[in-house]
Amino acid sequence: MYKILKKEVLAPALHLFEIGAPRIAAKALAGQFVILRIHEEGERIPLTVADFDRQEGTITCVFQEVGKTTRQLGVLKEGDSIMDFVGPLGVPSHIENYGRVACVGGGVGVAPVHPVARALKKAGNEVIGIIGARTKELLFWEDKMRAACTELRVTTDDGSYVRKGFVTDVLKEVIEEKGRIDLCLAIGPLPMMRAVCDLTKKYGIRTVVSLNSIMVDGTGMCGCCRVTVNGEMKFACVDGPEFDGHGVDFAEMARRSVIYREQERQAVEVYGESACRCGCGGGRQ
Ligand SMILES: Cc1cc2nc3c(=O)[nH]c(=O)nc-3n(C[C@H](O)[C@H](O)[C@H](O)COP(=O)(O)OP(=O)(O)OC[C@H]3O[C@@H](n4cnc5c(N)ncnc54)[C@H](O)[C@@H]3O)c2cc1C
Ligand code: FES
Repeated sequence: MYKILKKEVLAPALHLFEIGAPRIAAKALAGQFVILRIHEEGERIPLTVADFDRQEGTITCVFQEVGKTTRQLGVLKEGDSIMDFVGPLGVPSHIENYGRVACVGGGVGVAPVHPVARALKKAGNEVIGIIGARTKELLFWEDKMRAACTELRVTTDDGSYVRKGFVTDVLKEVIEEKGRIDLCLAIGPLPMMRAVCDLTKKYGIRTVVSLNSIMVDGTGMCGCCRVTVNGEMKFACVDGPEFDGHGVDFAEMARRSVIYREQERQAVEVYGESACRCGCGGGRQ
């Protein structure tokens, strides 16, 4: 069992868990992920390693409640345990001194961008962080990203904090202001990553994205996570999750990401009906 040592609510339906997992913490690198299962009959879900502490033996994950399992996870408290916690999985981010790098995080994507930005800065890059959220109350880790980057720019879609606009508006300004960007990393919702890639392609800036395709085993055996990159079939769990953004078939990804929508809707409905009404989180399987 893996104990939740710390829980923080970062924003509505957005949680941070620090989980005791010394063997994973000893090996985890930026860009990797874990797969967890809350209990015996639970669904396996992948979450990115948002931070790790080798000395304390902890892994930090930040997750958004979107469906049944992430809602079940959101109900857990400090001191509760998760049955399975497997990792680190996936190919770590390729870290080298590229020169000037833009690290773009949208929504919950700010969490996975954070360890990569920190590693890139440590490798000697000038790291320009760009983070955005729909509105002020959904923005988190501004302080951690400021520390991880050389320079940080913040935006909100509705203008409720710092400025109004999408991360792509800020990225365009940065590209035009700085003249040269050697690499762009973008992590966030699919439409955001696609928009970043459309923009950077025009400027010929190499762009890396992290793909949240549907995953089951996370070890290259089931084929659920397949994505097409530069015309070739890849498995996001073992070949990724980071890929050349300009080669990703985003239309195919978008189609595949909704294939279980009806089953996901039904699972939430059944979960809601089985929940204990006293607010304890009981009765939910
Ligand atoms: C490598 C990777 C890293 C991820 N990191 C994070 C993270 O750090 N924080 C975070 O909030 N989310 C992350 N996700 C997405 C997270 O796994 C899904 O939100 C979660 O599985 C949803 O499960 P659910 O039962 O709550 O929702 P569901 O109702 O089952 O699904 C809601 C949405 O989640 C997607 N989803 C459902 N099951 C899976 C699955 N097994 N694999 C991938 N996507 C799924 C569906 O396509 C759908 O769009 C990551 C996904 C991958 C593949
Ligand atoms: S999740 Fe099964 S092959 Fe990638």
